[in-house]
Amino acid sequence: MQNILSVKSLTKKFDDFTAVKDISFDVETGSIFAFLGPNGAGKSTTIKMLTTVLKPTSGEISINGFNVLKEQDKARASFGIVFQDHSLDEELTAYENMVYHAVVYKVPKKERAERIQKALEIVGLWDRREDYVKKYSGGMKRRLEIARALVHYPKILFLDEPTVGLDPQTRNSIWTHIKKLNEERKMTIFLTTHYMEEAESIADQIAIIDHGKIIESGTVEEIRKRTETESLEEAFLKLTGRDLRDENNETGNKMRTIRGMGRRNRH
Ligand SMILES: Nc1ncnc2c1ncn2[C@@H]1O[C@H](COP(=O)(O)OP(=O)(O)O)[C@@H](O)[C@H]1O
Ligand SMILES: [Mg+2]
Repeated sequence: MQNILSVKSLTKKFDDFTAVKDISFDVETGSIFAFLGPNGAGKSTTIKMLTTVLKPTSGEISINGFNVLKEQDKARASFGIVFQDHSLDEELTAYENMVYHAVVYKVPKKERAERIQKALEIVGLWDRREDYVKKYSGGMKRRLEIARALVHYPKILFLDEPTVGLDPQTRNSIWTHIKKLNEERKMTIFLTTHYMEEAESIADQIAIIDHGKIIESGTVEEIRKRTETESLEEAFLKLTGRDLRDENNETGNKMRTIRGMGRRNRH
């Protein structure tokens, strides 16, 4: 199969506000696809629709050949997901978190131990498996979430801002693990990030979303050429404007665009 993910005219409305507006794109099997956009652009809303967490208002999604709306279980078995916000049980050990997830995903009992070990080894946490998650650093939690998403052998891994809030060394190590999964296991990666230079170095294909619409897509090279810029960051700023966006979605729509307030701690 050439495209593991295919999205057609996907739209999400929250009451009278349209967060995602009629977007369409394909993700090639085995590739790394980066979904970029300022805060509030609609990245997490899109990822939530792709992973059956949110129901689209309209549109079609196919993952691994399955209709995500009509064949939810088969689609779910095909992907792993790391959400933007941490979703581990801090009161459990790393290993217990893994077991819990393996049970939810119906990994056969006799394969459980081996798969958990492999996944923890991939992210370098096997030796720390008995630690309580509350004692983990932010980077270790992220790596554990990645390991957890691998236990049911997904064909495609969704990562929503996997490196946000982490220091540069930890970010680097997360990308190394992600790249390894892509290269050695041929796993397709769909990620969102704010860090342009990271997307630039890792992604085969890029789509830039702003105000719920895809405004540019292609390889880094193609985007640089079309926008007549030297880097993805420059292209991104040229396309999305230089006004700052609030990173806290909870504050609602009226705070969505902050203009002329200086650089706030934008991730
Ligand atoms: N449950 C919701 N109800 C209403 N508005 C929402 C909801 N979830 C997200 N939004 C709004 O949709 C827009 C896109 O949000 P989101 O997809 O989280 O953006 P991103 O991940 O690109 O930062 C934002 O304006 C946000 O406030
Ligand atoms: Mg988000």
